[in-house]
Amino acid sequence: MKEISKTPEKISGMFNEIAADYDKNNNIISLGFHSFIKQIAVKELAPKYNDTVLDLCCGTGDICEILKKYVNPKNIIGIDFSSEMLRIARQKHPSLNFIQSDISSLPQEISNIDKITICFGLRNVENRAKVLEQVYRVLKPGGFVLHLDFGRKNLFSKMFDLFVSLFVKVMHKNSTPYSYLINSKNQYPEPDDLAKEFEFANLKFFKRKDFVFGVISMQIYKKI
Ligand SMILES: C[S@@+](CC[C@H](N)C(=O)[O-])C[C@H]1O[C@@H](n2cnc3c(N)ncnc32)[C@H](O)[C@@H]1O
Repeated sequence: MKEISKTPEKISGMFNEIAADYDKNNNIISLGFHSFIKQIAVKELAPKYNDTVLDLCCGTGDICEILKKYVNPKNIIGIDFSSEMLRIARQKHPSLNFIQSDISSLPQEISNIDKITICFGLRNVENRAKVLEQVYRVLKPGGFVLHLDFGRKNLFSKMFDLFVSLFVKVMHKNSTPYSYLINSKNQYPEPDDLAKEFEFANLKFFKRKDFVFGVISMQIYKKI
């Protein structure tokens, strides 16, 4: 399969286009499961009230919303490069702090972070090693990063691809973002291989939990 292009212009443009329908369509194609899985994953990270937490690729603010249950809202920072996704996030969570930035080069003033979340985001970046370098830089020693995304490529993962293709046909959706979703998912490393990339960035594997027969996987890594 040809490697798909993930230039920042292409990816931010695509998310700007789909932002208005993102939450609704996400609920449909995941049959509502994404929200349930995100709740469990964030709980596994064990965020504390006084932690400073950075949500990378925050999109419309789903993870920030869950973090608000545990963490002082003043200490939650959502980061994304899509202006439209951020516009919705700010509307939904006016009390939170959102920054527009490419996560491959985070603002220099961001540092000393207790916990980082990156959910369904790392798959979309052009250079994962660069992002992991940034994660390492901004985390406190002993800090944790939660990664949640598609995991194993098995029969259930193929069934998901079919379901998404059917959704596009039935709902007469523009197919480009959905074929991107399927291709990016199928080209993404499985959790064991991804763990090696985190370890290479000095982020030590700490914990893993798989969902929906491994189609979705969360891992937590620790900066030693
Ligand atoms: C699939 S959405 C996930 C949103 C949210 N985390 C969730 O779980 O619903 C991916 C988000 O990552 C953002 N994104 C992708 N690459 C990025 C990058 N290099 N820097 C900043 N944001 C990026 C996109 O704009 C989009 O909002």
